[in-house]
Amino acid sequence: MTQQASKELMDMIYQALASELQGSIQYMWHHIATPKEEGPEARKLFRKVAMAEMEHAEEIAEAFRKLGGELPTQPDPAVVVGKTTKEMIELDVKAEEGALELYPRIVETAGKEGLSRIQEIFEDILSDEKEHHRSFMKALEKLS
Ligand SMILES: [Fe+2]
Ligand SMILES: [Fe+2]
Repeated sequence: MTQQASKELMDMIYQALASELQGSIQYMWHHIATPKEEGPEARKLFRKVAMAEMEHAEEIAEAFRKLGGELPTQPDPAVVVGKTTKEMIELDVKAEEGALELYPRIVETAGKEGLSRIQEIFEDILSDEKEHHRSFMKALEKLS
């Protein structure tokens, strides 16, 4: 039996997927664009988190397809590449804040609608996003 999700929940999951695309591309471009003289630390962090966001996209997309959702092809918000390492990290903190705002609402709505798999997926991913936010904040402190 295919489980039904409300349009509100489907729209939120679609937005989550588009933001995972944004994160995975934006962070990977930050990995590529970080000036070498900044040292390997920020570059490594950007790459590691970019890969994590792509894995989130995969996991969410599989569940979303099972609910009959159509996959987004455009990152949303738009991908922005910072000019300095500090600006890059600030942009990435902002991207994580988007997830920290949206994902608890998805967890709550999925719970109300009895979609326990979606609820679990977003609970797990939310804890990753909290970790990403902490890592980027730490990296920012080191620069200032
Ligand atoms: Fe993510
Ligand atoms: Fe993240």
